[in-house]
Amino acid sequence: PAIHVTDRAGSSRIIQADEGLSLMEALRENGFDELMALCGGCCSCATCHVYVISDALPPMSEDENDLLDSSDAREDASRLSCQISLGAEHEGLQVVIAPED
Ligand code: FES
Repeated sequence: PAIHVTDRAGSSRIIQADEGLSLMEALRENGFDELMALCGGCCSCATCHVYVISDALPPMSEDENDLLDSSDAREDASRLSCQISLGAEHEGLQVVIAPED
């Protein structure tokens, strides 16, 4: 799916992500290195924090919710990008990389 990404500096671009990747993997593959993703996607670091709003997102697990709670930058649109597996339903998704904690 085509995904619209805004980085921490406020610049935006559209990336073409492969289905089946996590949103975190797609962001890293496309050079958004500021998304550290230190734990590699095991839902234990919260350095893959993004803001994203869509009806097509999977429900949040308790672990994801707890980790996000540890972030001062949490907002209603907060998600951990490693917990979102991309599919066709995410065409046009708008993602903003959350500030570093
Ligand atoms: Fe660590 Fe997502 S990469 S929680």
